[in-house]
Amino acid sequence: MTIALVWAQDRTGAIGRRGAIPWRVPEDLAHFREVTGDGAVIMGRKTWESLPTRFRPLPGRRNIVLTRASGYTAEGAEVLADLEAALDLVGRAASVIGGGEIYSAALQHAHQLLVTEIDMLVDSADAFAPPVDLDVWEEAAASNWQRSSTGTMYRFLEYRRIDYSRR
Ligand SMILES: NC(=O)c1ccc[n+]([C@@H]2O[C@H](COP(=O)([O-])OP(=O)(O)OC[C@H]3O[C@@H](n4cnc5c(N)ncnc54)[C@H](OP(=O)(O)O)[C@@H]3O)[C@@H](O)[C@H]2O)c1
Repeated sequence: MTIALVWAQDRTGAIGRRGAIPWRVPEDLAHFREVTGDGAVIMGRKTWESLPTRFRPLPGRRNIVLTRASGYTAEGAEVLADLEAALDLVGRAASVIGGGEIYSAALQHAHQLLVTEIDMLVDSADAFAPPVDLDVWEEAAASNWQRSSTGTMYRFLEYRRIDYSRR
């Protein structure tokens, strides 16, 4: 099973502000669609609620929403109270798609981090990616910096968990 964490962050690791993503980079949305494929996507309740209703559930993928609130319903998604139970449920491949709380909880289970760097410094951010410890993660791929149709510079990074048994 492969568990990937997929996020976009500014230069300091900010991923959100007031329940939304503080930039517009359509190319990253296309990348997100591609890397999440037709597998399961696991997200926190706040991220689910941040999705525009027309994109809820994310099409073509098994949507799993985590909340500790009993009785919560999310139309078109499965609702679970436990990250480990969600990971057990999904089988072959899962993408953890945020937000900050869920990335932090899922990091220990992940094999791969797919990070989009956005060349911005977001003011008053209130959600953050977990720090990527380079004793644990190695950069496996990095695209060149590219300019979005909106003018914002961005690049794609891939980290893989270091397999110390092979060294
Ligand atoms: N830039 C990006 O790539 C990206 C991606 C996704 C989201 N975001 C942004 O991130 C922000 C949201 O992130 P966030 O950290 O505030 O919230 P979040 O991680 O999306 O959701 C947090 C909620 O998930 C539930 N939860 C957390 N840990 C849990 C666990 N171990 N088991 C079961 N349920 C658990 C709780 O729901 P209850 O309170 O209902 O119990 C908690 O309040 C938004 O601004 C969003 O736009 C950015």
